[in-house]
Amino acid sequence: MTTRPILIHPDPRLKTVARPVDRVTPEIGQLAEDMLATMYAAPGIGLAAPQVGVLARLFVMDCVKDKETPARPMVLINPEITWTSEETATYEEGCLSIPEQYAEVTRPAKVRMRWLDLDGTTREEEFDGLWSTCAQHEFDHLNGRLFIDYLGPIKRQLITRRMQKLKREKARA
Ligand code: NI
Repeated sequence: MTTRPILIHPDPRLKTVARPVDRVTPEIGQLAEDMLATMYAAPGIGLAAPQVGVLARLFVMDCVKDKETPARPMVLINPEITWTSEETATYEEGCLSIPEQYAEVTRPAKVRMRWLDLDGTTREEEFDGLWSTCAQHEFDHLNGRLFIDYLGPIKRQLITRRMQKLKREKARA
């Protein structure tokens, strides 16, 4: 397992609709392992393939936060949303591609997703709480959508300028 560099917004690859995974190959398995290692190292609770520059429809997540509960690394390949609740929930979201910027986003409180796992088996599960928010946030990445796209234009531009500045500073370092 190796960690991979995470793309920082703004980057055209973060605005691109990712393509479906044709077949769960060993390369996809390796990518998923690397993404999990990258996510845990960051540290973060979710990471989508476009964030490491791979425009394929898969993401990883693990929203277990307390140290007593065993980790639950999940890999969702070609995820589809099959149901969302009418009830909504608001969480302060962040993103590994938009470091240290947080904002409240309102989304359906619960979501049901269907996906392929690394064995090529179809799975379906309902998520709620932080898992639901995270799954929807990561799903958005596969469609080139970031959490800041839910904010007003002024706040979005402010965050984008901060990220441009951060990238300039990193390029100089
Ligand atoms: Ni994100």
